[in-house]
Amino acid sequence: MNILMVGAGSMSESLVKGWLDSGISPQMITMTNRADRSRLFALAEQYGVRTTAEEQVDQFDVVVLAMQPDGVLDYIKQQTWRTDQLVVSVAAHITPAEIEAHISCGAVCAMPNTPVAFRTGMTGLWFGDLVSDEKRQQATALFGRVGETVETNAATMPYLMAAAGCSPAFFYEIVGAMTPVLTKAGFDASSARRIIAQAMKGSAELLLHEERPTEELIKDVAAPGGPTDRGVRVLREHDLAQAMYEALMESAREKN
Ligand SMILES: NC(=O)c1ccc[n+]([C@@H]2O[C@H](COP(=O)([O-])OP(=O)(O)OC[C@H]3O[C@@H](n4cnc5c(N)ncnc54)[C@H](OP(=O)(O)O)[C@@H]3O)[C@@H](O)[C@H]2O)c1
Repeated sequence: MNILMVGAGSMSESLVKGWLDSGISPQMITMTNRADRSRLFALAEQYGVRTTAEEQVDQFDVVVLAMQPDGVLDYIKQQTWRTDQLVVSVAAHITPAEIEAHISCGAVCAMPNTPVAFRTGMTGLWFGDLVSDEKRQQATALFGRVGETVETNAATMPYLMAAAGCSPAFFYEIVGAMTPVLTKAGFDASSARRIIAQAMKGSAELLLHEERPTEELIKDVAAPGGPTDRGVRVLREHDLAQAMYEALMESAREKN
């Protein structure tokens, strides 16, 4: 199975890094972009992947469209496609039907997140009407190499994108907001970041192993009137729930 990555930005690199770590040979991956040749050279140096400035998409079993959304449909129209390829777009707000209007091999719209680089990603997969069972399995297995997958559709994809594709940035925003408290107390910035990230990672692990509602998990940590309880009260007074709701709704919204 050879893979062409069209686009060599942060999402493309994250996927390539994760796939290589999962055992895919660098010789099976070719990367291309629009103009930045030095970026391709650097990626080839770092990961040992192939690069090209003049790709022929029909030479590849899997083509991942990892460019900005506004370039996807023009790119699709300009290329010649085989009928048995797996075509995956990771672009926000592009639908399988829009792609399948121009190709007959079926299209999968995937929404991964950058933690795929460490094989801890969360990817939504929206399968077009023309995608065969075999291609569904192939796409699910490919993204399963770099984390968890969930099937999405027109109704759920924008919210999956907000909650998984965009949310690493929300979490970094939270870490950035927590850090000064620790650095002011005397930790260096790197230790502060490690402390917060490890606390988040452990909490995420616990959430993945627990089925009780989050309210109950909070009670496990927050004795009434104790330090956690008082801190949670401050978050509620500042309406963190409303801020998170509005952030996700804004990210899910298609820009006019
Ligand atoms: N970043 C994320 O966390 C994330 C998460 C989920 C989904 N996505 C989706 O992934 C896509 C890429 O995001 P990104 O953050 O990686 O963007 P990015 O860092 O801006 O990279 C975009 C890449 O696409 C290339 N490109 C643009 N037009 C092209 C064309 N016509 N042919 C070939 N290459 C082309 C650019 O090449 P040049 O530099 O040479 O122009 C660049 O390498 C977007 O559609 C986004 O919605 C991103």
